[in-house]
Amino acid sequence: MYDVPFVPSPEVVVRRMLQLADVRENEVVYDLGCGDGRVLIIAAKEFGARAIGIEIRRDLYEQCLKRIRDLGLEGRVTVLHGNFFEFDLSDADVVTLYLLTSVNEKLRPKLERELRPGTRVVSHDFEVPGWKPIVVEDLYEEWRSHKLFLYKIPGEEIPIPTDFPEEKYYSLSDMEKRVLSYVDGRTPLEEIADRLGLTLRSVREIVRGLIRKGLVKEIKMVKQKAS
Ligand SMILES: C[S@@+](CC[C@H](N)C(=O)[O-])C[C@H]1O[C@@H](n2cnc3c(N)ncnc32)[C@H](O)[C@@H]1O
Repeated sequence: MYDVPFVPSPEVVVRRMLQLADVRENEVVYDLGCGDGRVLIIAAKEFGARAIGIEIRRDLYEQCLKRIRDLGLEGRVTVLHGNFFEFDLSDADVVTLYLLTSVNEKLRPKLERELRPGTRVVSHDFEVPGWKPIVVEDLYEEWRSHKLFLYKIPGEEIPIPTDFPEEKYYSLSDMEKRVLSYVDGRTPLEEIADRLGLTLRSVREIVRGLIRKGLVKEIKMVKQKAS
């Protein structure tokens, strides 16, 4: 009935997937086909992420909701009932998959369309055909080995400067000033994030605030085809 049966990832595998994807506090992690919710729970509890799971099976969705409520994680975890092909994923910083190669292949155009440059996708056991992983890792756990594939959505988001009256500058916070100092029309958000030790999400949010205040013109999205 469903594309993929429910087979949970062992917790040690989940942890490694989230480590490989370098999940940081307040980043948004999507688990497509979240099963009993273990990826969401570990992402929220151990990595401080905001986790969103989509599950097509009603029994698993309900089980997942109950676990989240019992653990008091409703503020950090959202569970959605339905087919992940029908949900917008553009808010993700990280997407985790434990599906099948054939399903990953069908998902690929959606991921390429919706995910922002720099989003990490980590898949347990099944590759995304046509994409080149940046890491492939074998993980031995009890009686079998697991393969993990890490991908990064290529492309760049480049903030474009604008002229603004000097007095606007003085009302900015120190962090806004530091981010603004890198806005030269060439430096991508990801590089600014690296240089300042911030997440891509937080730099994107700061730059959006600067756009609203009239200190940055726009964020130009330069998408590249996944290789
Ligand atoms: C192999 S399990 C992985 C569960 C969990 N992500 C983990 O790693 O432990 C795959 C899950 O995806 C769900 N699933 C399959 N196709 C789906 C779809 N199109 N939309 C939402 N969930 C789906 C299944 O019901 C199952 O719970």
